[in-house]
Amino acid sequence: MREEILNIKNEALAQIMDAKDSRDLDSLRVTYLGRNGKINSLTKSIKNLPKDEKVSVGILINETKTTLLDLIAEQKNKIQQTVRKWFDTSIPAIKAKIGHLHLVTYAIEEISDVFTKIGFVKVRYPEVEWDWFAFGSLNMPKDHPARDEWETFFIDSKPHPSYGQMILTPHTSSGQVREMMRVKTPPIRMINIAKCYRRQSDVSHVPMFHQFEGLVIDKDISIVNLKGTLDYFAKNFFGRQRQTRLRPFHFQFTEPSFEVDITCGVCLGKGCKLCKAGWLELGGAGMIHPTVLKNGGVDPTKYTGFAFGWGVERVLMMKSGLKIPDLRLLYSSDLRFLTQF
Ligand code: FA5
Repeated sequence: MREEILNIKNEALAQIMDAKDSRDLDSLRVTYLGRNGKINSLTKSIKNLPKDEKVSVGILINETKTTLLDLIAEQKNKIQQTVRKWFDTSIPAIKAKIGHLHLVTYAIEEISDVFTKIGFVKVRYPEVEWDWFAFGSLNMPKDHPARDEWETFFIDSKPHPSYGQMILTPHTSSGQVREMMRVKTPPIRMINIAKCYRRQSDVSHVPMFHQFEGLVIDKDISIVNLKGTLDYFAKNFFGRQRQTRLRPFHFQFTEPSFEVDITCGVCLGKGCKLCKAGWLELGGAGMIHPTVLKNGGVDPTKYTGFAFGWGVERVLMMKSGLKIPDLRLLYSSDLRFLTQF
C-alpha cells in the first residue's frame, strides 16, 4: 500500500509540474484529490489494513494530499504571474479591420433616401430582361435604329412568346412599363435602382453599372414638376449651391426629351478644365411618350408623366470632393483605391 501511494504521488507530481494552465491544474486536482480521485480511493481501503499499519498509512496519505495541494497552488500562482507579465492592459489595443460598404452601395442608399423622402416608392426591376420591356414597349420597335445607342448584350436562349428575346437590360427605363403594369392606376412615383449592362469600357464607362430611374405619372404632371424634382435632387445630393438645366435631346420614349446638366462642383459654373463651360452632363429625362403610357395600360388622355434615368457611378464621380479619375476603378477591387473613402 505504501508503495502504491508513493507511485501515485510521483505520477501526480510529474503531471502537476507539466500542467500548462489553471484548467489543467484544476482537472489534476479532481483526478487525484477529488471525492472519487485516486488518493481518496486508497483512503477507503485503509480499513482493511492491519491495525499497526493503519496509522502510518493514514499519515502518509495526508502528507501526500498536502504536498499535492501545495504544489498545485504554487504552480497556479506561477502561471498567473507569467500571464500578468505578458498581458499589459496599458498598451492600446490593435484595431480590428472591419472595412466599410462599397462607395456605390453608399450612393444607392443616399439616392434612395433623397427620393423616398418625397414619396417615391423604391423598386428594383430585373437586370435580365425581355426585349419588350427594354425596347419594344418604349417605342423602339424591332430594327429601330435608336436601339443602337444601347450597346446591348443579348442572351442566347429561347425567346418569350410575347416579350421577345432575353437580354441584359442596358437601362432602368425597362422598369417603366413594368411599374405601370404593377400599379395599374396612377398616381405612380417610382424610383428603380438596378444594374445595367452595356458593351462599353473606358474612363467614364463600365460594362456593368447602376442606373436610377424616376417615374412619375398622375393628372396634370408637367415639365415644371420634372424640373422641380431634378433641382430638389441636385441640391440634396450634390449641395445647395448646385443648379440644373435642361438641354433639348431625343429619346424614343419621352417627348419632349432632355439631357440634364448640373453646374460643375469644381468651378461652380464659371468654367474649368473638368467641365463644358461650367456644366456637367448628368443623364436623360423627359415627358413620357403617349405610346409608352398606352403600352403600360395607362390612358394618355387622362394622365401625363415624366421620367429620368441617370448613372449611379457617374453621379458619384461628379460629387465634389470625391476623386474618381476612372470609373473602372470602382470595380477593380483595388483596396488602395477603395480604402481612401
Ligand atoms: C438612358 O439610358 C435613358 N434610359 C435615360 C432616360 C430615362 C431618358 C428616362 C429619358 C427618360 P443614357 O444612355 O444617356 O440614357 O444613360 C443614362 C446615364 O447612364 C448616363 O448619363 C450615364 O450616367 C449612365 N451610363 C450609361 N452608360 C454607362 C456606362 N457604360 N457606364 C457607366 N454609366 C453609364
